[in-house]
Amino acid sequence: MVVKKIGVLGAGTMGTGISQVAAASGFEVILNDVEEDCLQRSMKIMEKSLTRLSEKGKIEEDKETILSRIRTTTSLSDIKEADFVVEAVFEDFEAKKKVLLELDRLLAPSVILTSNTSSISITRLAALTSRPSQFMGMHFMNPVPLMVLVELIRGIATTQETFDQVKDLSEKMGKVPVEANDFPGFISNRVLIPMINEAVYALMEGVGTTEAIDTVMKLGMNHPMGPLALADLIGLDVCLNIMEVLYEGFKDSKYRPCPLLRKMVDAGYLGRKTGKGFYDYNK
Ligand code: CAA
Repeated sequence: MVVKKIGVLGAGTMGTGISQVAAASGFEVILNDVEEDCLQRSMKIMEKSLTRLSEKGKIEEDKETILSRIRTTTSLSDIKEADFVVEAVFEDFEAKKKVLLELDRLLAPSVILTSNTSSISITRLAALTSRPSQFMGMHFMNPVPLMVLVELIRGIATTQETFDQVKDLSEKMGKVPVEANDFPGFISNRVLIPMINEAVYALMEGVGTTEAIDTVMKLGMNHPMGPLALADLIGLDVCLNIMEVLYEGFKDSKYRPCPLLRKMVDAGYLGRKTGKGFYDYNK
C-alpha cells in the first residue's frame, strides 16, 4: 500500500504536531476536528512552528508549500479519502470509541488505523473495530516537530505487515520508531509519568520548591526540562489521566496519583494550555 493522504483526527497539541510533521514529510493531510476554532488555532500553531524551523534551516521547503498540503475539515466523512489514519482525539476511552467506530465504518477495508493514545490498551481499542489486524498504536511525543521518537505498539491481532508499514511510514516522517508492548503506559509513560508524579509529591511534602525540584533534575540529571515544567507542557490533566490508567491497570499502590496533582487539575490549573500550572505563564 502506498500512502499519500494521511487523515488526522483531533486538532489538539498532538494532532497539530502530527499533521505538521506529515505535511513537512510530503504527505497530504486531512485534519479533522469537531470545532472550527480548534482547526484555525492548529493552523496558526503550525505556521509559527514552521517559521521557527525555517529560520533555523531545519526545513527545506517553504512553509506555504507545506501548509498547502493540509486540508482542515469539521466533517468526519471527509476522512474517507485518507489511505492512512492517526486518531489523536481527547485521551478518553469513550471519546476514542465514538470516533473509531465511525472511522471504521467510513474507511476502505485496506486502510490502516492507528491511535496516538498515550496509555489506553491498543488491543481494547482495536477490538472496537472490524480491522484489529490493521490497527496499531503510534505514540508521538510532544512537541512532535522536535521529538524524534515514536513508540509503536501492536495489539494482540496486529499483523507483521501492518507493523512493517507503520514502521516504514514513521521513518518517512523522520521519526525513530521503537516498539513497546501493550502494557499500561507502554514504555514512555510507564517511566516518565511516575517520575513527574513523584516530583509533585516532593513539592507537596515540602522537600523542595518548584524551582529547586526542576533545577535538581536539569543540572543534576541533564534533563532538558524539570519534571514540573514538563508536566505543564504535557498538561496536568493528561498526567493525572495517565497515572489513573497505571493505577487501574496494575492495581498497585505505587502508581497512586499525588493529591496535589489532582487538586491542581480540579482547580483548572492544567499547565501551559490554561496559562497556569506549576508555573504562571501569564506573567
Ligand atoms: N516547533 C518548532 N520549534 C520549536 C518548538 C516547536 N513546537 N518548540 C520549541 N522550538 C524551538 C525553539 O524555538 C528553540 O529554538 P532555538 O534553540 O533556536 O532558540 C528550540 O526549539 C529550543 O526551545 P527552547 O529554547 O524554548 O527550550 P528548550 O531548549 O528547553 O527546548 C524542548 C524545548 C525541545 C521542548 C526541550 O525542553 C525538551 O526536549 N523537553 C522535553 C520534552 C519531552 O520530554 N517531551 C516528551 C513529553 S511526554 C509525551 O509527549 C508523551 C505523552 O504521552 C505524555
